Amino acid sequence: MSNNIEKLKEEIRLKVEEALTKEELEIIRNNYLSKKGEFAKLMASMKDLPNEEKPAFGKLVNEAKTLIELILLDKLSIIKDKLLEEKLNNEKIDITVKGDKFSLGTIHPLNQVIEDLEDFFIAMGYEVKEGPEVELDLYNFEMMNFSEGHPARDMQDTFYVEDKVLLRTHTSPVQARTMLDSKNNPVKIICPGKTYRRDEDDLTHSHQFMQIEGLVIDKNISFANLKDTLLRMVRHLFGEKREIRVRPSYFPFVEPGVEVDVVVNNNDGTKRYIEVLGAGLIHPEVLRMGGYDPKEFSGFAFGIGVERIAMLKYNVEDIRNFYLNDLRFLQQFKGDLS
Ligand code: DAH
Repeated sequence: MSNNIEKLKEEIRLKVEEALTKEELEIIRNNYLSKKGEFAKLMASMKDLPNEEKPAFGKLVNEAKTLIELILLDKLSIIKDKLLEEKLNNEKIDITVKGDKFSLGTIHPLNQVIEDLEDFFIAMGYEVKEGPEVELDLYNFEMMNFSEGHPARDMQDTFYVEDKVLLRTHTSPVQARTMLDSKNNPVKIICPGKTYRRDEDDLTHSHQFMQIEGLVIDKNISFANLKDTLLRMVRHLFGEKREIRVRPSYFPFVEPGVEVDVVVNNNDGTKRYIEVLGAGLIHPEVLRMGGYDPKEFSGFAFGIGVERIAMLKYNVEDIRNFYLNDLRFLQQFKGDLS
């Protein structure tokens, strides 16, 4: 009888060794250890044994069962480890495999100019503001001293959304908005943004373009402060030796008003003048409409043509290049990507 037990143990050991899956182990357990399994049969056969042999036989059967349980558990954990290892291997990421190629974009040249000037003005204590591109006639014209029917409105025809709602023709309306917000306190802001005009597009004109507005209000602001600021800005952009030319001009919201040209030296010794901005001392009427007493406060304002600066800085001959999204053009500005 004990031989039978040994044979059974051996048989099971072999089967467990060959088993490859949890399911196969389960079948082995069922065949041998369940209520109808081989060990149960052995126990049932005990009744044929003489009484004195029964306890020893029972003990052998139980020991064998415990051993088989252990063998099964052992194998189960081996199979589980193997499964885990396979899973880990399958999910392994090979970081040495070459990735998909994608090309890095560049900061648009117009935004490079804007970011550069933002840094420049922030360093001088200015705050950067924003204003809406869809603007009210009130801020775009009225509060900038272009009353209804004012001839200067003709130069700034635009796209209308409704009768008194339009695409702003300049960033100057941000002056009015800022004054109303600032309630009689000093102001030192710039505002970059898109502007629109009903213009025919050509080499130097576009129906959509960008400006940076500047506004400074305080006590005792003079034309010298304005000129100093603009000269510093031009020299920051184009080098310490660069000169500017300031010409009288007319804008309804400043008095006096000027246009500022950057002086370019031609190869033959002559000079060229390239207009880059309008500026002036804030008109008393504009201060008053913005809630400031012109007897107490004064200020200056300027409006920089971003495209003009970029064309000059990067030697771009056709303004339309900025808007075409042609990679051959844009990739030339990679160098400035910071
Ligand atoms: N807004 C003017 C334009 O687009 C430019 C300008 C001129 C802005 C004089 C100013 C200024 O702030 O003082 O034609």
